[in-house]
Amino acid sequence: MDSQPVFFVGNIPIYGNLILSPMDGLSERPFRSLVRKSGSAMSYTEFINAIDVLADIHRIQKKIAFYEFERPVVFQIFDDDPDRILNAAQKLTLFQPDIIDLNLGCSAHHVASRGAGAGLLPHPQKIARIISNLVKHLPVPVTAKIRLGWDEHSRNYLEIARIIEDCGAQLIAVHGRTKVQGYTGRADWDAIAEIKSKLHIPVIANGDVQTVADIQHIRNQTQCDGVMIGRAALSNPWIFSSRDRSEVPPHEVKSWIEAHLHEMIAFHGEELGVILFRKYLKRLLTPYQLSEDILLALLTATDLKILHHLINDVFNTLIEP
Ligand SMILES: Cc1cc2nc3c(=O)[nH]c(=O)nc-3n(C[C@H](O)[C@H](O)[C@H](O)COP(=O)(O)O)c2cc1C
Repeated sequence: MDSQPVFFVGNIPIYGNLILSPMDGLSERPFRSLVRKSGSAMSYTEFINAIDVLADIHRIQKKIAFYEFERPVVFQIFDDDPDRILNAAQKLTLFQPDIIDLNLGCSAHHVASRGAGAGLLPHPQKIARIISNLVKHLPVPVTAKIRLGWDEHSRNYLEIARIIEDCGAQLIAVHGRTKVQGYTGRADWDAIAEIKSKLHIPVIANGDVQTVADIQHIRNQTQCDGVMIGRAALSNPWIFSSRDRSEVPPHEVKSWIEAHLHEMIAFHGEELGVILFRKYLKRLLTPYQLSEDILLALLTATDLKILHHLINDVFNTLIEP
């Protein structure tokens, strides 16, 4: 951990400049907490639907579970209705997050088409109302994560970023794509640089960081306060300690897999934990180009003992004696 804060979110010091992206279905406590231990500077939950919070808080218990050592912890919320967002955020603060973040970036059809996530970007005044309400009524700092606009003809990111800052939010994370782009094309780091040059609150740059060299490039190009990493973290969680995947020896990958599997079982129970672990295991094993038969066996095993055996067998052949 850096001995000096790299930046502040309101009065909350952040000791590092690399942060795991919120990722629905992936950045839950087991993975997120391991990544936090290995260098991510704060913990964002996956996005949480305000409607679910208000309907039945128990439905989202797993999404808001965190370990104390993960602090600062950010609960991310999404919806299209300003009052519902405020009510849900107030309910969520009872579970002691350090920060509440508004999702203005989700491009998934079922979210954006109902005016939530990136679906809010064409409505700056609504965003102003939501952020002002949250800032006024919540006891914790409010932040937002945005995309650059709805499509290439409406890249209103500067207007949105200024509104977010003027309404009192304390940090903005920017994924350098429009909603219509989804995950296609390249993230526009120059646009992120433009936002950073105009704002006074911390700006986190996000999109297409895959290697340690990319971290340096995006920092140089944007001058941002921090860098958020999503997809690349799944095959290389060591990126948060500035290591490329090619530098990580198989015995460390094996230890990570064992620790993550252990956390998954503690969190979800054995049966579900083993099944849900597959999506992480697949990405961690990708660089080894294992045969289809071996992969199939690993990714369909339902019995924990068998899975442990298979993992041992694979790594016995990968680890030099
Ligand atoms: C499977 C998946 C789920 C995601 N879920 C969320 C989410 O819940 N909240 C959010 O703000 N962004 C979410 N994102 C977007 C990421 O946070 C990030 O902005 C995007 O992946 C670009 O960064 P990357 O190129 O480092 O992956 C998700 C992305 C992926 C791939």
